[in-house]
Amino acid sequence: MNANVLSCHITTDTVADTFGADVLNGLSQLPKRLHAKYFYDKEGDKLFQEIMACPEYYPTRCELEIFRDKTAELANAMITGEAFDLIELGAGDATKSQYLLQYLVDRHTAFTYMPIDISGNILSELQNRLETVMPDLSLHCLEGDYLEMLDKATALSSRRKIVLFLGANIGNMEPREAVAFCRSLRERLQPGDLVLIGFDLKKHPRIIRNAYDDSAGITAKFNLNLLKRINRELNGNFVTEQFEHYQSYDPMTGACKSYLVSLCDQQVTICKNHFNFRRDEVIYMEVSQKYAIEEITTLADKTGFRSVQNTYDTRRWFADVCWEVV
Ligand code: AVJ
Repeated sequence: MNANVLSCHITTDTVADTFGADVLNGLSQLPKRLHAKYFYDKEGDKLFQEIMACPEYYPTRCELEIFRDKTAELANAMITGEAFDLIELGAGDATKSQYLLQYLVDRHTAFTYMPIDISGNILSELQNRLETVMPDLSLHCLEGDYLEMLDKATALSSRRKIVLFLGANIGNMEPREAVAFCRSLRERLQPGDLVLIGFDLKKHPRIIRNAYDDSAGITAKFNLNLLKRINRELNGNFVTEQFEHYQSYDPMTGACKSYLVSLCDQQVTICKNHFNFRRDEVIYMEVSQKYAIEEITTLADKTGFRSVQNTYDTRRWFADVCWEVV
């Protein structure tokens, strides 16, 4: 990463380093913004694990409950058609999908599991674990960008495709971006293929806001870690004590957004580029979009899918929705 530091320029057309280019671009905009996908360096991965263990952060536990207790419901929507391969976008450690994999393997379903992740580390750990606990599973790991690797996976597979996109990761897209993403997913698939997407649902606004504003301050640290990452990798000089995490949730739009607020007038230098912050100026860090189930069905209809089945946890706080390509 250090080798890339010298290639940071504010005009980014020739910059190979997308992290640096995106940071410089984002901080040149008004309002300033940084991208949530950069949260996940080694420290960020660790903090996200801690977030998932926070009592306030419910989404992971809700989706785990669905995969543990409604495995048959999820699997039965998949098994009805011809033989398939299972592609997972952002598989991570696959704790949730493992229930589904085990269910399918136990029933001698013929399929290959193709997990896609940007983290090669996570993938090799996943590969080692699955080879041990499910020796009969046919497994093909793909490291890289979601859609790029999806193209690779669909080229490798001669069966019907089922694409998993779990963990409410689609929430990190603004609604307009989610529409574009679903359309590009649709373009890469054929009629009869399925997708299974995890959505966090609208619920009492305080429950949602608290999930992103935990009392132990882990989410705040998680946001501030991106400033530290910029200091580490892009030769920045953020004084993180001079920024404060602020969380908003708008129950009308379902937008749950996190910001870092500058606590004073200050200047930050990143790789020779200067950025001025006014006191109370914010950096927009992340959206975790929440949906009503009707909005999810509309999203399916708008993007070339037909809603087949919605699977909920007992509190109906989360849904894994199964769509068929039409
Ligand atoms: C991994 C995108 C699903 O938005 O709920 C958790 C990330 N950010 N707490 C989410 C996150 C702050 C998480 N996703």
